[in-house]
Amino acid sequence: MSAAGEACDIEYSFAEEQDFQQVLNICSPGDYNGLDYIAATFHRWLQEPGRLIFIARMNKRVVALESTLLVDGGQTVVFQGFRVAPDMRGCGIAGALKRHVTAYIRRHYPEVRVVRLSRGDQPSPQVLAKYRLIAKEAILSLCCEATDLGPFIAELQSKLSCQADSCQSAPVTLNQHQAETLILTDHVISNLLPGKTIIIDWEPLKPVEANLEVLRRRGLMVIADREFEPTVISLCTPPYKVPYRHDALRININIFGHSLASVCAMFLAQLEALLPSLQGYLIFNTYVDPAVWPGLHQFCQNNANMLFFKDYWEELILETDV
Ligand SMILES: CC(C)(COP(=O)(O)OP(=O)(O)OC[C@H]1O[C@@H](n2cnc3c(N)ncnc32)[C@H](O)[C@@H]1OP(=O)(O)O)[C@@H](O)C(=O)NCCC(=O)NCCS
Repeated sequence: MSAAGEACDIEYSFAEEQDFQQVLNICSPGDYNGLDYIAATFHRWLQEPGRLIFIARMNKRVVALESTLLVDGGQTVVFQGFRVAPDMRGCGIAGALKRHVTAYIRRHYPEVRVVRLSRGDQPSPQVLAKYRLIAKEAILSLCCEATDLGPFIAELQSKLSCQADSCQSAPVTLNQHQAETLILTDHVISNLLPGKTIIIDWEPLKPVEANLEVLRRRGLMVIADREFEPTVISLCTPPYKVPYRHDALRININIFGHSLASVCAMFLAQLEALLPSLQGYLIFNTYVDPAVWPGLHQFCQNNANMLFFKDYWEELILETDV
């Protein structure tokens, strides 16, 4: 390969169904600590409106992938799924693919002004300087056998009932209409959403009508502490399979709110809603305001075999102009 993965060595195309195995081949078991989502999302992404999946090939072998999702009514693309084959990392292929994708977007979607992406790898100050930081969430990662979830929930219920300010209203599971109405209110946008951004499992969307269709596709469980002017609102993805273990399921719970007691209650409410349907090995990523992370971590100390999968880590939402 020539220096910096020049385009003469790399062929670009859009992914197709038959590329699935080759796409899996560029994922390493260590990527995302075994919680890689690409196998779970690839087929759905191929069908998704507004989604493009770019792949890079060298000598007919798939060596890299990047995906874009058109959001915010066509003004923004979200970059997702960036990956390079483990043996080809650090050779410039990532940069070459990024330039190809950006050039394609500029040429075919001239109305797109902004690229948005999320990163969980603590980029250096030099990398961060290339972006605007839109929001930051702290992640609490927990794991357990499904059989241990019930006892863990029972422990949390008893802790919550002992807390002085737990005389809150019972959590409300919102239907689609209620959730969509609530998430676009000034109250939720200004007071609860980090950087005025809806974040679902690393997917950052502006709270605008045009993005509701994307939210609908995600099949979320939406729970708030009340239907009007809530202090907390939470979005949970359906569980999906990840390579960590043959029966491992990853579950993502984004909780928007700044009161620790409300966040704890919301976390518990989402677990209670999930409990009847879960089997196998469970890994929960719960994304919260960094200020409440230590308290939620403390709340989750337990004797029920729920383990901390990872220590404190963060998701950064970044933007740059196209
Ligand atoms: C992230 C990954 C694609 C980078 O590939 P690489 O060949 O090692 O890339 P380099 O370190 O040479 O960086 C090249 C470019 O990619 C960018 N990049 C590196 N890590 C990135 C990340 N996690 N997210 C987005 N961009 C990233 C770099 O900033 C750089 O862009 P720049 O030149 O505009 O600054 C590769 O390490 C990989 O496949 N990792 C596993 C999957 C993963 O963690 N993906 C992350 C985001 S979904």
